[in-house]
Amino acid sequence: MPVIKRIGVLTGGGDAPGLNAVIRAVVKSAHNQGLECVGLEDSFDGLIEPNRSRPLTPRDVTGILRIGGTILGTSNRGNPFAYPVATPEGKVDYSARVVEMFHALGLEALVVIGGDGTLAIAHKFFRLGIPLVGVPKTIDNDIVGTTSTFGFDTAVSFATDAIDRLHTTAQSHHRIMVAEVMGRYAGWIALHAGVGGGADVILIPEIPFDLEKAAAKISERDRWGARFSIVVVAEGATPVGGRVMITRAAQKGSVERLGGVGHFVGAELERLTGKETRVVVLGHLQRGGAPTSADRVLATRFGAKAVELVVNGQFGMMVANRPPDIVPVPFQDVVGRMKTVPLDCDLVTSARTLGVGFGD
Ligand code: F6P
Repeated sequence: MPVIKRIGVLTGGGDAPGLNAVIRAVVKSAHNQGLECVGLEDSFDGLIEPNRSRPLTPRDVTGILRIGGTILGTSNRGNPFAYPVATPEGKVDYSARVVEMFHALGLEALVVIGGDGTLAIAHKFFRLGIPLVGVPKTIDNDIVGTTSTFGFDTAVSFATDAIDRLHTTAQSHHRIMVAEVMGRYAGWIALHAGVGGGADVILIPEIPFDLEKAAAKISERDRWGARFSIVVVAEGATPVGGRVMITRAAQKGSVERLGGVGHFVGAELERLTGKETRVVVLGHLQRGGAPTSADRVLATRFGAKAVELVVNGQFGMMVANRPPDIVPVPFQDVVGRMKTVPLDCDLVTSARTLGVGFGD
């Protein structure tokens, strides 16, 4: 097995709290095992455009553990496989340039930190011969093979705190307060923040909602004396027979932009219950700020494990949380799949037992 001396690291997809903690862990672990690290900027752009990479030493990453975002920059556009370019030899896509640049930079392995889209791209580069290891990132927690991803705990903590604050006005003014949270295809944030924040109705993409049922739940609360209600809705939740609400259609290189379901739900619940209603969209606030200690710990363990896999020559793997261990999982078991909320999981069942409505 060839001894690896120089590795690249990049962050792709939407930012998530804990990215810097992974970068720090990768750089420090690598350095302590005699490996040089090169940081690649703005996802795979760092392997497409010249001068978009820089050496990373422990000195470059000291102090970034607690800082949100990514010092390397990121992008959720620009899949190198999606952009054909004309060359004298015919049409090629940017993937050929990525492979070329990887070698030109003297890299021998790559650590790719990203969500499902970035990991799918990484898998393709692995099949093209780049030795690489993946680190799962997303506040949505929807990557299969790992019980959790860093960023999720921070997003849930923020959303729970926001719901706590909404309780104040809900209770004082006897209103319905609707909080729209992130979660395109999976309702993990809505479910955890909803239960953690004591929501009365939680609407998630996995359970198409009927607002008459949600309104009935709220009116029932009114009857026994709770004159306010908290509703948490995931941005990707849909009405029965409907589809996701969007603010912008998909464009070349980017997916559709979700938005609007919170206001739709708020207006309908006000009409159906006759109760004054307000809506708050938490949006990117959930992705910002410092990672929680749980996310810092998970990100650090992921980064250290990724370097261990590189040193052991275990490529084509994603590091995954399988408590109490961090384990390697082959890319082919992960990419192209999504971890949604199982409808019979304990958290849904427990919430239902307490009387939480899911709009079904
Ligand atoms: O996947 C993470 C996520 O925050 C989703 O929950 C959300 O729909 C999406 O990214 C938003 O992406 P952007 O920042 O590109 O609008």
